[in-house]
Amino acid sequence: TTTVTVRPIALGFNAVPKSLADQLSVPAGYTATVLYRLGDPIANNVAAYANNGSDTNFAQRAGDHHDGMTYFGLADNGIPDYQTGNTRGLLVMNHENITQQYLHAGLPTPAPRPESEAIKEIEAHGVSVIEVRRGTTWSYVQGSSFNRRITPNTPMSFSGPVRGNALLRTRYSTDGTQGRGTINNCANGTMPWGTYLTNEENWAGYFRRNAGDAAVRTAAGRAKENTSLTRYGIPEGRTGNYGWTTVTPADSSSTIFSRWNATAQAGAPADGSGDFRHEPFQFGWVVEIDPFDPNSTPRKRTALGRMNHEGCEIGRTVAGVRPAFYMGDDAQNEYIYKFVSNTAWSDADAGGQGNRLALGDKYLDAGTLYVARFDANGNGTWLPIVFGQGPLTASNATYPFEDQADVLANVRIAGDLLGATRMDRPEWTAVNPQTGEMYCTLTNNSSRTPANTDAANPRAYTDPKLPQGDVVNADPPTNAQATRGNANGHIIRLREAGDRSDATTFTWDIYAFGSGADLNAQNINLSGLDATNDFSSPDGLWFGLRSNITGQATPVMWIETDDGAYTDVTNCMLLAAIPGTVGDGATRTVSNTLTTAANVTTTSQTATRIGKAPGASLKRFLVGPKECEITGIYSTPDGRSLFINVQHPGENGSPTAPSSNWPSQTPGARPRSATVVITKDDGGVVGL
Ligand code: FEO
Ligand code: CA
Ligand code: CA
Ligand code: CA
Repeated sequence: TTTVTVRPIALGFNAVPKSLADQLSVPAGYTATVLYRLGDPIANNVAAYANNGSDTNFAQRAGDHHDGMTYFGLADNGIPDYQTGNTRGLLVMNHENITQQYLHAGLPTPAPRPESEAIKEIEAHGVSVIEVRRGTTWSYVQGSSFNRRITPNTPMSFSGPVRGNALLRTRYSTDGTQGRGTINNCANGTMPWGTYLTNEENWAGYFRRNAGDAAVRTAAGRAKENTSLTRYGIPEGRTGNYGWTTVTPADSSSTIFSRWNATAQAGAPADGSGDFRHEPFQFGWVVEIDPFDPNSTPRKRTALGRMNHEGCEIGRTVAGVRPAFYMGDDAQNEYIYKFVSNTAWSDADAGGQGNRLALGDKYLDAGTLYVARFDANGNGTWLPIVFGQGPLTASNATYPFEDQADVLANVRIAGDLLGATRMDRPEWTAVNPQTGEMYCTLTNNSSRTPANTDAANPRAYTDPKLPQGDVVNADPPTNAQATRGNANGHIIRLREAGDRSDATTFTWDIYAFGSGADLNAQNINLSGLDATNDFSSPDGLWFGLRSNITGQATPVMWIETDDGAYTDVTNCMLLAAIPGTVGDGATRTVSNTLTTAANVTTTSQTATRIGKAPGASLKRFLVGPKECEITGIYSTPDGRSLFINVQHPGENGSPTAPSSNWPSQTPGARPRSATVVITKDDGGVVGL
């Protein structure tokens, strides 16, 4: 047996320097082991991955672009054990997207796409469930009966208020209760009853929509669908990512390619039951998976709204109080949401021993969805998204809502009408288990301008490449995209009124602003970052488990970065933090100076609330290989094994000239997204 050492509230490692090397770096005294790579076989009869474009059957291999991830501990007898399951467990992870050029023998074949290539590309998306075990080192268990791949073709069911709604009727489900698959799964949520939430983010990009579609919908009396499709990023003229609809399948009855064409077919039933015009409404949901039952059908939880879902993390649970679920909609100028269940929390539902998807029904299918408004005085309001209240009525001129299902399927339009605060791309959410404070990464926003800054999104046109007194010489700036708007992102945090998850008001401040350490403190490096902790484009965010530590100490908050404005200086990274609390800093004024092409200077000054400089309570823990993003993160209950994901290393290379070889050491090897497990050489808690 081992005992957890009580340690002071301090980070017990030396910061890792920034790096552009094609390697993964961790602090001295730590070991990183590659665990589960793109293409690794999960079933016994599947060959090892050749990694030369010849591999097939991705429905039985690790998918690509590992993202959000949870470790669910198992006891020796295979039942959930969240307290002591430290050497055997299930890793559940998203495969958000693909690095297309490494999946085929040569460069991808242009349209019309060959069926064999498109099948691989589709199946390399989705979710993995794999069993992992710790012997002398960690490894995954090929052939485990728990192993499962969920792909864009896997049957799904709908639950909550939108189930059975007219908007969900397609050829795959004429009554709108079922559907197929999940795609572009980004970030996650870990439910205390033992399920995994995976979140459909940039799903809109996969859909084709031909010219003339709007006219067919309008003639069918469904003109408002055009408003919705445009608001969600599917205007007429889109061809769809990877051109899957251009495949002519050998089996002419197959619809796995044509289902990505959302164009309404003239002559098909107006209710959508005979074509795929409503297929885009089947995506954009939070999907709940029971990882312990490989035969279970994932449920799309429609009460949580339809958007570019990123994180969906549950707030601190308190017996007798209705729990909250915090969510970001990751696109420029979108919103932060909170769902409050109608059902008060019961501690008996934790632990994963019950009927897990039924517990999901209990907490996730009925409640109130809110969208956040951040006020300049440091207060905020959760605005209820409820049909019949305020502008969300059948007589609304922008979008005449029919019912609550219509509101939930079009929450972005509801957020617009309610006057929610447009954020700098909300990504992951995380909740401090000690205080209940919610943190959300705002990764960056190249479209933020000085004229539309606000207290919660106060930076714009601050060129990170320019020294003190930054002036950008054109409007928009003519230099790189990454230098526009809020190029480096920030992390906002809020504290609910009365520390209650069901509160409708909150206070907030900004925990940290991303920035290079060398940039000026007046309008860019507002948090005083230094060489040990400077970062850009925060994305993944996770608090360690209370079980990782003893006593009342706050667990470590882990911050992961995405490809952003800083990748000319360093590859993406993982940082560890011991955060403070809302209000520990000061209110300050940020100046954004812009010189337009006409040489007219405008200055916008935004008062904001800034947390105290993180200093030694924020340190860089890991730097990844070239052209990667550091994504999913979770640990064993004892915190002694930390799992992280490395997404799309070498994403800008070609099959014949890969720009990274990681995790291989062999020159010329194609890079692979992979899960890495990090342990401390003395056996201690990672990070402390
Ligand atoms: Fe898939 Fe917003 O990250
Ligand atoms: Ca992300
Ligand atoms: Ca991102
Ligand atoms: Ca990425």
